[in-house]
Amino acid sequence: MMKIRAAITGVNGFVPDEVLSNDDLAKIVDTSDEWITTRTGVKERRVLRQGASSDLASSAVQGLLKKTNTNPLDIELLIVATVTPDYLFPSTANIVCDKVGMINAWSFDLNAACSGFLYALSTAIQFIETGRYKKIIVVGADKMTSIVDYTDRTTCVLFGDAGGAILLEPNEEGLGVQDFILRCDGSGRELLVQPGGGSMNPASVETVENRMHYIRQEGKQVFKFAVTNMAEVSAEIMEKNKLKGEDIAWLVPHQANLRIIDATADRMGITKDKVMINIHKYGNTTAATLPLCLWDYEKQLKKGDNIILSAFGGGFTWGAVYLKWAYNS
Ligand code: UT7
Repeated sequence: MMKIRAAITGVNGFVPDEVLSNDDLAKIVDTSDEWITTRTGVKERRVLRQGASSDLASSAVQGLLKKTNTNPLDIELLIVATVTPDYLFPSTANIVCDKVGMINAWSFDLNAACSGFLYALSTAIQFIETGRYKKIIVVGADKMTSIVDYTDRTTCVLFGDAGGAILLEPNEEGLGVQDFILRCDGSGRELLVQPGGGSMNPASVETVENRMHYIRQEGKQVFKFAVTNMAEVSAEIMEKNKLKGEDIAWLVPHQANLRIIDATADRMGITKDKVMINIHKYGNTTAATLPLCLWDYEKQLKKGDNIILSAFGGGFTWGAVYLKWAYNS
């Protein structure tokens, strides 16, 4: 009998309707469409005015359940990867279960910044591979605009709001997740951080006045770590699984910067036409970028396709997942 693997059997994304273009941002801070496009690849991003990350996640999950004809009562576990939870506690995952009616599931949030979806996926597959769980939903959802400082031109141009969800089920045909490599290095914690609001710097007049509840990033330094580590870990998972560039149908990279994506594809020996890109439409949606890419490209994916997902984010955290796509849509 073949090993039980966890396969993605459905994917859905949700983005709010409101578009914030580069030209819109140029009216708020000293920037330009030309700078943002050439330095990052972002043209526009989406903004959720009313609601929280649980709303982004719930919309993505509701669509996923409908699309896959799945009863919410059959979901056994929900993991929500997010850095913008509705509250510090209770978890956003608990709230999503309530909003969607997944009353038989247990659920938790996972915080690994932009690598959150890969960490959550790699956690979820363990429950399927043991044979104990049959239906798990993994979500990446972030309302980044709730922590973006719209007076800081170096970060406010990067981020947007979105949610993406996948359904995981057992597969005994050899399809689904084959391997993963995950890493972290907490010595990078000051370089990409929301400093206020946690136990280090609890909310106070001072934390608010010092704008400590917003994202702070040392862009250049993060760029150096990201470009090296995302490329290296992607090449490492290929070597470990004896894959060459031509064996890969798709690279699904975290959408933080087009230059980081290009460098990763080059290191892997993958041509640009095999790289999923939607950063121009949504910007960096943190934990949501990878499921949003799968959702955007779902119709082009074929059963058996070799796919590498790869990400780098705050922490630092980074990693890669190798999977064989399990269905034709
Ligand atoms: O997703 C989690 C991980 N995060 C990442 O992977 C992000 C990694 N970092 C990056 O993607 C890039 O570092 C940024 C896109 C954030 C910045 O690009 P950069 O090429 O590294 O620019 P820089 O920070 O070195 O700044 C270059 C210049 C500076 O001006 P001076 O000092 O040369 O006069 C900045 O002040 O560009 C200026 N600048 C801007 N100009 C216009 C910075 N932001 C802007 C802006 N518009 N929005």
